[in-house]
Amino acid sequence: MRRKLAAGNWKMNGLSGDLGVLADLAAAHGEGDVDILICPPHTLVNRAAQTVADGKIRIGGQDCHAAETGAHTGDVSAAMLVDAGAKWVIVGHSERRTDHDESDSDVRNKARAAIDAGLGVIVCVGESLAQREAANTLDIIGGQLSGSIPDLVTGQNLVVAYEPIWAIGTGKVPTTDEIGEVHDFIRARLERRFGAGVARSVRLLYGGSVKAGNAADIFAVSNVDGALVGGASLTAADFSPIVTAL
Ligand code: G3P
Repeated sequence: MRRKLAAGNWKMNGLSGDLGVLADLAAAHGEGDVDILICPPHTLVNRAAQTVADGKIRIGGQDCHAAETGAHTGDVSAAMLVDAGAKWVIVGHSERRTDHDESDSDVRNKARAAIDAGLGVIVCVGESLAQREAANTLDIIGGQLSGSIPDLVTGQNLVVAYEPIWAIGTGKVPTTDEIGEVHDFIRARLERRFGAGVARSVRLLYGGSVKAGNAADIFAVSNVDGALVGGASLTAADFSPIVTAL
């Protein structure tokens, strides 16, 4: 049985004064059966991890470099995230793919480095509006899955997040049928590549304008095991109802 996962991606938001959100979430959901993960900016990972130590909330990074060490000014390695207290890392977010020109093979190398360092990875995939309108969604997702996910995954160290680019931060959300079609496709592709045992253990998150008002409908879709939430993860008031809807 897959445990539900509510993951928050704070993106480039958050200062130390914002970490009170973690205590509020812990107080509201400390005994629940939903896993909660918050991915703050790298500057806050260590402090956030210390804040939630021994609690049920986990802390993750938003990206890592594929190399273990070296001359990569401004980058952070997977081992550094582990050292700071992270348990997970997001790789291949569409904002990284666009803003930093990351290819599927870049994402795959990062994911491999993260797994080697002992992190779980959340690999993001998603189509643009033009690709959806051209009826290319499943081809695009299929290519991203095979290109971005490394071989050495288990059901426990991989999460896949489906984030249609056109739904991120826009208030637009695919229909539940559209979400279900993509999530069923992702599960089938994972099964074809890794076998049923692994594929059935991998959690599949939907991301893109998830809010309190639409979370329950999205979570009722087959093969949706949780959400990767941006804007609505920045405050406990917004994120808590999403956790509860799982
Ligand atoms: O990674 C989460 C994300 O891209 C969705 O952002 O603000 O639409 O929930 P948002």
